[in-house]
Amino acid sequence: MENLKGLILSGGAGTRLRPITHTSAKQLVPVANKPVLFYGIEALVEAGVKEIGIVIAPETGSEIASTTGDGSAFGASITYIDQTEPLGLAHAVLTAEEFLQDGPFVMYLGDNLLRDGITALVDAFRASRPDALILLTRVPDPGNYGVAELDGDRVVRLVEKPEFPPSDLALVGVYMFGPSIFEAAKAIKPSGRGELEITDAIQRLIDGGKRVESHRVLGWWKDTGQLDDMLEANRLVLEDIERSVDGELVDSKVEGRVVVEAGARLERSLVRGPAIIGADARITDAYVGPYTSIDSGVTVSRAEVEHSILLSGSSVSDLDSRMEASLLGRNVKLSRGDGLPKTLRMIVGDNAEIRIP
Ligand code: DAU
Repeated sequence: MENLKGLILSGGAGTRLRPITHTSAKQLVPVANKPVLFYGIEALVEAGVKEIGIVIAPETGSEIASTTGDGSAFGASITYIDQTEPLGLAHAVLTAEEFLQDGPFVMYLGDNLLRDGITALVDAFRASRPDALILLTRVPDPGNYGVAELDGDRVVRLVEKPEFPPSDLALVGVYMFGPSIFEAAKAIKPSGRGELEITDAIQRLIDGGKRVESHRVLGWWKDTGQLDDMLEANRLVLEDIERSVDGELVDSKVEGRVVVEAGARLERSLVRGPAIIGADARITDAYVGPYTSIDSGVTVSRAEVEHSILLSGSSVSDLDSRMEASLLGRNVKLSRGDGLPKTLRMIVGDNAEIRIP
């Protein structure tokens, strides 16, 4: 069959992950020290989809393009497609029409992570070539997603973020389409939230008697759109890492599945995996506990950190209680002032949230 292209949506406003994404793209927030977006690119390439278009927004597009490059690092070829306003997922598809050239494609939402990749699903699509193939999974909070109503195996109705969900089957952010999706996306009207919803476009395919198939995602899936999801995704990805210690250990102990990248230095510290310590990080007189991702150039001294993500250039020092379930942005400084009275000293960006017992 003809070549299957990939379309990754990495535009949008990203307001829900603020303040982390105030100045940068939510799709670049690292999970286990790798931008979420890269997992999507890798999943496509693994499924044999190597011609990839990435939809970007004016505010964050250049950062995405400069971090991701032309695709050669992934064995792919990447084309960037400007979407001037975040008018919805179906609008993004229409924006990419010229790139997609009426061919079948896989659409992957740039903030989604699927444990088992998408190879089996892409193969199923290639084999049966329906007008659309959607992925579904059971969730405890269907009202936050697109939700499917099935009759046996047949998809009868799709609704976007319903107040009264007809089922607990959420639409996972990976879709496969034939060319009939363009006509459907052109025919729909903006939803209550002012977006051209892909959910409505697929519903239109169903109403027009087109073939819409669904598959279940059984391995874990995460939409990293919110802070707690980000920590959870980090935990799930770290769960699968292999131990590799390339950095320097001085009077330090590294227990279990821990990655210490080259150039990192641990002194008089204990790291208990699963955890990852990025290049050029400095961990001194500290404890780093399970499910922690410490990005490159981060400093942790005389402090304990667990189940957290620390972005590059941040530093944490002299805490007298353990920091946990936290996400620190880039270049954040968190420390305790000298002497008495005991004070906390923080240099924190806009709209941060800090809770101190
Ligand atoms: O994650 C799965 C969910 O994704 C589905 O269950 C929903 O049916 C689907 O509508 C979508 O919902 P979200 O509200 O989570 O979508 P979000 O606005 O976060 O956008 C998803 C990705 O697409 C994100 O990387 C930003 C990008 N995007 C979004 C819009 C609205 C664009 O590139 N352009 C856009 O216009």
